[in-house]
Amino acid sequence: MTEHVATSNGFRTSLLEEADGPAHNPTANPTMGELIATRFSRRGLLKGALAVSAISATVAPAALLTAERARAAGSSAFSFGEVEAGVDQDHHVASGYDADVLLRWGDPLFADAPEFDPLSQTAESQSRQFGYNNDFVGYIPLPDAENPAEHGLLVVNHEYTNEHLMFPGIVKIVDGKPEVAPADKKRVDIEMAAHGGTIAEIRKADGKWQLIRNSPYNRRITATTEMAMTGPAAGHPRLQTTADPTGRKVFGTVNNCAGGVTPWGTYILAEENFHGYFMGELPADHPEATNYKRLGVPDSTYEWGRFYDRFDVSKEPNEPNRFGWIVEVDPFDASATPKKRTALGRTKHEGAESIVARDGRVVFYLGDDERFDYVYKFVTARAYNPQDRAANMDLLDEGTLYVARFDADGTIAWLPLVLGNGPLGPDNGFVTQADVVVETRRAADLLGATKMDRPEDVQPNPVNGRVYVMLTNNTKRKDDQVDLANPRAGNAFGHIIEIAEADGDFAATAGRWEVLLRCGDPSVAEVGATFSTDTTRNGWFGMPDNCAIDAAGRLWVSTDGNSPKATGRTDGLWAVDTEGDARATSKLFYRVPVGAELCGPTFTPDDQTLFVAIQHPGDGGEDWEGFGRPSYYEDLSTRWPDFKDDMPVRPAVVAITRQGGGKVGA
Ligand code: FEO
Ligand code: CA
Ligand code: CA
Repeated sequence: MTEHVATSNGFRTSLLEEADGPAHNPTANPTMGELIATRFSRRGLLKGALAVSAISATVAPAALLTAERARAAGSSAFSFGEVEAGVDQDHHVASGYDADVLLRWGDPLFADAPEFDPLSQTAESQSRQFGYNNDFVGYIPLPDAENPAEHGLLVVNHEYTNEHLMFPGIVKIVDGKPEVAPADKKRVDIEMAAHGGTIAEIRKADGKWQLIRNSPYNRRITATTEMAMTGPAAGHPRLQTTADPTGRKVFGTVNNCAGGVTPWGTYILAEENFHGYFMGELPADHPEATNYKRLGVPDSTYEWGRFYDRFDVSKEPNEPNRFGWIVEVDPFDASATPKKRTALGRTKHEGAESIVARDGRVVFYLGDDERFDYVYKFVTARAYNPQDRAANMDLLDEGTLYVARFDADGTIAWLPLVLGNGPLGPDNGFVTQADVVVETRRAADLLGATKMDRPEDVQPNPVNGRVYVMLTNNTKRKDDQVDLANPRAGNAFGHIIEIAEADGDFAATAGRWEVLLRCGDPSVAEVGATFSTDTTRNGWFGMPDNCAIDAAGRLWVSTDGNSPKATGRTDGLWAVDTEGDARATSKLFYRVPVGAELCGPTFTPDDQTLFVAIQHPGDGGEDWEGFGRPSYYEDLSTRWPDFKDDMPVRPAVVAITRQGGGKVGA
């Protein structure tokens, strides 16, 4: 989602102009403005094959081969017929494909779960049904499946709730403006049950995916599910509360944005904008005051603290230290306790996508989604053992967390967030590694990390050996704050960076990088977009957010923030060439209904199904008229996907397949 911002109408919306909430990075970490002209004029000359060669110099031979192949082909790796960009009530996929709704908010997940009744919803029902605002989607094949690409577990995050679209009769027009009624406890309990994640067994039969409703794997994780704190901060006094004097047991996870699936088949939920769930005042001289200020805690977006003391920092000041983590769940055991893995740091985590490095250690790439915040990676201490799943189950408790510094010479340095490294000592309040991970952002500030334009998904590509960083936008960046890795002031449309780790080793502490794509309308010269000239008027996009790499190593980018006002189009999924002469060519494959953002793109291992998540359809209207009538811009409203008078607009996961079978996007 875009950052939680209290808007004039009290809704949590996702309009581009309302995503401009406060940044919380107060440091003067360096910018490199004077060097930008040099580097970009040079880059401007390095077109196509030459540019690929420049970054490939340090990439493994396999990557070079891929680039060579693409160059020989000399054209786009994607042959589908492009979708027309635009705005309407429905979703649209490239011709020759089916886009089928698989799971919607409220769909019952268990044989005995109640059917969805939006007019009499309860927390109990919601906790047995698919949650709200699906974001991350992962597919984990079942080990004993006849065809692992057609039978597996779908793991889905439920990031946040849009009360004005969920609950009937809670919006009133006051002085011509819509206002959402204050929450009661019943509503808060439903909100909490609609957050978290879903694990659902699914199977493809006769070409169509179906939920297995009586599966023993099906599970809902919510804002009240019991979880364990593990890793360096577990048990530390800063994590202890009245309810949990051990500092090792926490209830629930919130704002689970993107995530990941580990090589050993566990499900990762990233806790992103957790600050919005806390209310109350912390005394200015409280020991956690600096820590919380750097994260924008409290923010009072939600009203949970009115009914649950732990969400009120004046009553339970340590509770926010128990959120902002990476959560790992074993999806094959519905009774397994989810674990908050503190070794991976505490930020507004977008996601955690991973890859096995050459020596068997596992590398997780992590974006901290806020203006001027950082890109991280975590390298496990031990190697992954593909023969012994149990041996991998606590790999995430030991390892090294790094933050990225993007240097002006095109190199990247990964700086270890380790107690005793330079300024990370008692003089700056870091007494143990627990302090370093609890205050990850402040530690990264002190190491001189590069302030980025809202890092979202960071995705390693096992085929070409590179890593793709989605930077969604940052309209607050001023002229004197541009640097080579964030080259535009007032960056409304975002950009994508490509990293090649040194010697093709994902665990390396150095590498090279360059900007793959500056997003926005290339026909408007002032925007400074860099899509290839082969990109059509449908093919360009703004605000990259999530991404996926298919089995062939091709990049697919989903967006958050395109709208009639911002770009004259809805969000969607664009296929982006990264190799050869077609590099930086982009094509629109799928677009969402008005008001939605697109999340969670992921492929089955055979590339024959693409799962996507339609989040907050129908959101963003100024003149909303009440339940069931989300009105975006005048007549542009939607009741997707049911289009029934008695059914609200519903977030949903969609399965995209090729008619007659075959790989998606070939
Ligand atoms: Fe929840 Fe960074 O988008
Ligand atoms: Ca986003
Ligand atoms: Ca996101």
